[in-house]
Amino acid sequence: MKRIYFAIPIIAAFLVIIGMQAQRNFTTAEAEDGVLKMGKTGELDTKPDSGTKKILVAYYSHTGNTREIANQIHKIVGGDIFEIQAVTTYPSDYEEVKKRARQELDSGYKPALKTKINNINSYDIVFIGYPIWWGTMAAPVKTFLSEYDFSGKTIVPFCTHGGSGLGRSITDIAALCPHSTILDGLAVWGKNAKTAQNDVSAWVRRIKVKE
Ligand SMILES: Cc1cc2nc3c(=O)[nH]c(=O)nc-3n(C[C@H](O)[C@H](O)[C@H](O)COP(=O)(O)O)c2cc1C
Repeated sequence: MKRIYFAIPIIAAFLVIIGMQAQRNFTTAEAEDGVLKMGKTGELDTKPDSGTKKILVAYYSHTGNTREIANQIHKIVGGDIFEIQAVTTYPSDYEEVKKRARQELDSGYKPALKTKINNINSYDIVFIGYPIWWGTMAAPVKTFLSEYDFSGKTIVPFCTHGGSGLGRSITDIAALCPHSTILDGLAVWGKNAKTAQNDVSAWVRRIKVKE
């Protein structure tokens, strides 16, 4: 009889351990989206890849190339994604959009935006994506950077282009956001946007946004 009294707590402890193990396996399966990962010891590392930093991926895209890159970045870094849209949409005709963009650039015009962010203060790292227009970021992105206060935040620029790379966009971002840290930007040829995943992930590793 005494032996049974001894055995009860041991069996109970055994059942608790099995229960905890089952719970851990369940959490690991949930983590397969890549946001959570296994640590070196085999323990589940529940820290999101970007640490406690809150990330926003904001972009403007006229014909879809920059949207493609924004989605690829978002898949890797997580956080929120936001499409910047102008109130007046740009013409789809290439010559017409070039003409309007040139006029806006020459006059310093910043087009009004249709989409707004309420909680910009909650983000620590803001990826900002744009097509290169006349050697710099497309005008709606200038409006976006002027409308909000990015002081103290880290800005991570990325662009798509037709051959000129980042152009003068980094200098222009620095002028609009003088109190932000600006990391090395990524430039992708528009025609390569759909197959840029390797370049995008190598760049994300290089700039060490993921801890
Ligand atoms: C108005 C306008 C101006 C452009 N100016 C440049 C330029 O100066 N340098 C360049 O390499 N590409 C230039 N491009 C090409 C775009 O940067 C390129 O096609 C980009 O991938 C488009 O991105 P999106 O599909 O996200 O709009 C220009 C395109 C447009 C419509």
